[in-house]
Amino acid sequence: MTIRKITEYPEAVLSQVGQPVTKFDQELADLCADMYDTMYDSEGVGLAAPQIGLNLRLFVMDCAGIKLIAANPEIIHTEGEQSSQEGCLSVGKVPAVVARPMEARLKAQNEKGEWFEQDAEGYAARCFLHETDHCDGKLFIDHLPKLRRDMVIKRFKKEKSWE
Ligand code: NI
Repeated sequence: MTIRKITEYPEAVLSQVGQPVTKFDQELADLCADMYDTMYDSEGVGLAAPQIGLNLRLFVMDCAGIKLIAANPEIIHTEGEQSSQEGCLSVGKVPAVVARPMEARLKAQNEKGEWFEQDAEGYAARCFLHETDHCDGKLFIDHLPKLRRDMVIKRFKKEKSWE
């Protein structure tokens, strides 16, 4: 069990578009195990590779009954709309209300390289979208109007200074 250090805003890797996963070997399986350990240790529901400093299109999640590993994730369908609070381990879990589609269909490869599709709605759909964004170098705060984005960053920096 290895808990990796979580990268935090504004580290550069968080805003880079990830490289595709091309090797589906034991090393990838071990990496995914570390990502789960790191995610559970921080009480998160999803964690993407850039959040442990790796420029890779990969995430793990365990959210609202959906537990999966997604390599090379793509959102291939969305429907509806929802607005609720969201946070990110890389931004100190400072919450902000983000508008997202209500339903999302994820297409990705598992740790063996097999392609799958999975539908989700509500919180789990939000997680698909949030984690896939990480693989594209995007944070949830990038969906916020500038003023609210600045407020989240300000609160995050303030809380960090108390540590
Ligand atoms: Ni996040």
